[in-house]
Amino acid sequence: MALRLGDTVPDFKQNSTHGEISFHDWAGDSWVVLFSHPADYTPVCTTELGQVAKLKPEFDKRNVKTLALSVDDVDSHKGWVGDIEETQSTSMNYPILADPDRKISDLYDMIHPNANNTLTVRSVFIIDPEKKLRLTFTYPASTGRNFDEILRVIDSLQLTDNYKVATPANWTDGHDVVIVPSIKDPEELKERFPKGYEEIKPYLRMTPQPDK
Ligand code: BEZ
Repeated sequence: MALRLGDTVPDFKQNSTHGEISFHDWAGDSWVVLFSHPADYTPVCTTELGQVAKLKPEFDKRNVKTLALSVDDVDSHKGWVGDIEETQSTSMNYPILADPDRKISDLYDMIHPNANNTLTVRSVFIIDPEKKLRLTFTYPASTGRNFDEILRVIDSLQLTDNYKVATPANWTDGHDVVIVPSIKDPEELKERFPKGYEEIKPYLRMTPQPDK
């Protein structure tokens, strides 16, 4: 069955460009972005993996490890890494899992046979330090992903784990957020949101981002 939000993600041991990875141990206390791509030596994937390498300081700031995967083997990955570094002007600073036996692809349902029988689609899994799945999405092979959006979701998840707020449409870090509807007590509202809030409707209350 497909993984659902809130599920504990399956553990695995698999080879990568950085040696064997025992997933849960490797993740440790970090958040993880695990993302699959269709194949090595392909144009869109080359730009995606390069972009993630360039964004490493942003992932580090948020305590996030990144981990790529395709069904190609380690030798293929290692050859391709040179091309990524050359063409994207970066250095590959995170591992690419090799999954020629499809162990992980099957566990995480990354092969969608009606799209392609053998290649992994562009799946993304955001996993928290408790190894719970917090976001998943799937893009087709022809569309490269927006990794700024992945950082934005991580910002939202980390904020809303710590405050009784949710983030509105197109929110980005530093902008106003909404107060969760379950908080109704005026004293609690004052205590939790000392910067005040605007009540647009009883269920739609905006407040400055609490941690800024
Ligand atoms: C690419 O990464 O460019 C790609 C991979 C598979 C199908 C189409 C494009």
